[in-house]
Amino acid sequence: MKPLIIAIDGPSGAGKGTVARAIAAQLGYRHIDSGAMYRAVGWKAIRDGVSLEDEAAVTALAEGARIDVSSTQVTIDGIDVTRDIRTPDIDRAAAGVARLPRVRRVLVDQQRQMGIHGGIVMEGRDIGTVVFPDADVKLYLDASPEERARRRAHDPAHTGVPAVVADVATLLTQRDEIDRTRAASPLYAAADAVLIDTTGKDIAAVVREVMALVHKKGLGAGG
Ligand code: C5P
Repeated sequence: MKPLIIAIDGPSGAGKGTVARAIAAQLGYRHIDSGAMYRAVGWKAIRDGVSLEDEAAVTALAEGARIDVSSTQVTIDGIDVTRDIRTPDIDRAAAGVARLPRVRRVLVDQQRQMGIHGGIVMEGRDIGTVVFPDADVKLYLDASPEERARRRAHDPAHTGVPAVVADVATLLTQRDEIDRTRAASPLYAAADAVLIDTTGKDIAAVVREVMALVHKKGLGAGG
């Protein structure tokens, strides 16, 4: 049986990363955080002094970059940027990169390539709508803005230190608004996605809920 493609979309702080990682581990699948790819391109653009307004230049930069995303490490051109891409500056840069349709095309091609044999859990904003519209399981995770800000503020991978929840909430709301209203692949739930509100829910319970869906497909084993 062909291993599945599992697509998980939703705004920041909805719990996508935690859920995707747990599901991938249980199924023995690859876990890909597609947002890390937009972040890595943003990191390289800043390093090289390339303006995010210059779509041709950012596209060339993305085409020339070798991005590797695993569940534990993100590298671009062999440089480990795992920690450096989780800063407020790169939050902004990634959202800027993600507005550019030609850059998206480059990254979406690479993402599709990663899923060619299935056995993958990919999280992002457009995975169920654009990258894998035929994904076997599609999820859209959401949570209240307060809860999302609280989670993001306490995410050590993101800030290194606990941040002030109110500050995080403001930035998160701004970034979500950009993601939802941009012309190129805006964030929305695919018509056939299962919506899960993770507000106040224990993540282990969400993981169980998702595993039940995977098993309902009757194809979840293997990897
Ligand atoms: O998920 P994360 O916050 O790391 O993503 C960083 C940015 O990358 C998001 O704000 C969004 O603009 C963009 N992104 C996207 N499409 C994806 C994943 C992320 O546009 N599939």
